[in-house]
Amino acid sequence: MSFQEEFLWGSASAAYQIEGAANLDGKGDSIWDVYSRVPGNTFKNTTGEVAIDFYHRFEEDVALMKEMGLQAYRFSVSWPRIMADGRTVNRQGVEFYHKVIDTLIANGITPILTIYHWDLPQALQDEYQGWESRDIIDDFTRYCEVLFEEYGDKIPYWVSLNEQNIFTSLGYLQAIHPPKVSDFQRFVNANHIANLANASAVKKFREMGIEAKIGASFAYSPAYAQSAKPEDVIAAEDAQELQDLFWMDVYAKGRYPKIALKRLETLNIHIDFQPGDKELLAAGVCDFMGLNYYQSATFVAAENKQKTAQTGNASQVSVVSEISDIPTDKLFARADNEYLEMTDWNWAVDPNGLRVALRRITSRYELPILISENGLGAFDTLTEEGKVHDDYRIDFLRRHVEAISEAIDDGCEVIGYCTWSCQDLFSWLNGYAKRYGFIYVDRDEESAKELKRYKKDSFYWYQKVIETNGEQL
Ligand code: NOJ
Repeated sequence: MSFQEEFLWGSASAAYQIEGAANLDGKGDSIWDVYSRVPGNTFKNTTGEVAIDFYHRFEEDVALMKEMGLQAYRFSVSWPRIMADGRTVNRQGVEFYHKVIDTLIANGITPILTIYHWDLPQALQDEYQGWESRDIIDDFTRYCEVLFEEYGDKIPYWVSLNEQNIFTSLGYLQAIHPPKVSDFQRFVNANHIANLANASAVKKFREMGIEAKIGASFAYSPAYAQSAKPEDVIAAEDAQELQDLFWMDVYAKGRYPKIALKRLETLNIHIDFQPGDKELLAAGVCDFMGLNYYQSATFVAAENKQKTAQTGNASQVSVVSEISDIPTDKLFARADNEYLEMTDWNWAVDPNGLRVALRRITSRYELPILISENGLGAFDTLTEEGKVHDDYRIDFLRRHVEAISEAIDDGCEVIGYCTWSCQDLFSWLNGYAKRYGFIYVDRDEESAKELKRYKKDSFYWYQKVIETNGEQL
């Protein structure tokens, strides 16, 4: 295996998905608090109101991480916990994250801080429609400034926006995340403003001279053509332009990709460039690419689209791909990949796709890459003896770790690997049914209050991987 000594073996989470304590100690509502309270908006009306109560149990969780040998923990800060109204600093919120960070460091775990993982203060949504207003650029930058001031000397890796392609497309196109809008032009507008806010935060980071690295985490499902038919090849190229480079070029080069802009024009969609926007984007180039990898995506030309029957046992659960599918019926369409198996949630299992993703990022940007998420969502069973035999997860992760090692041999610079997730947690679209963790959290309806933690078989597997720096898989 090819992992250098400093390679970080980590795991990841997000505030709304683990913390609970939704209205404690001065925290304000986020758009997710409000959205998930509305019956029908989430799977079985589940919410992150209590989640896995990380707010009160982080010491127990960090002790488990330490036992596993975890070297890095990626977590996010809740903006409305730091600023209930999006602007006024709440010291109790600030102190909570100081405690989490200090506890991680005291246990030898490198903290990786995500600034924004989707829980926008509801106050800003109410006041000016959140990401649809340019007012958010200053508010977001001020929020970042507070985080940089408070935690700047404790955090070596900062993730600015998590999966901007997902929160904008699911929120403004597919209408299955707040604010539940479905409008192509509004999606592109909100996304442009998010790009400006991201660039402004990176610029602030540089101006403040923070001695650390900053990048955005992108949900990257590398595009394949289903066949070598010329029109399918172009369809996959278009998908790559519009679903991948449209974001990654902005983070890595500070500008939109030319072909994507032209293709959008053919769909009559435009970016609202104002004076100064291009300069700001250029000033906000990231230090590394954060890669969230779950699956690849296969495309055909729109005219070749056949019925892509959904397979797998996903009938009781959401089959949303969490790929930012944009309505480009004229250009390309999603298709099955006959060579890949599917997960319980109908996501393609494709370790080689991770190698492809790492190689494509390296060849286009030559940036270091932090794998900020990768994992398997599955149904797990807790036995009467308190065990979870998740050999399917071990197999999934093992194959992905091998793919990383191969990509490193190919010449990719990989900083570390954060699995999704460490503890089981709230899933945006699937409540608590879909589990990703090494640590099982008992959230079954009757015992939800206890939230007891159990170590899965994968916990001991990852412990060995870390101990041997990837030699023992
Ligand atoms: C990526 C997101 O960042 C995370 O919040 C989510 O739970 C996982 N994907 C799994 O869907």
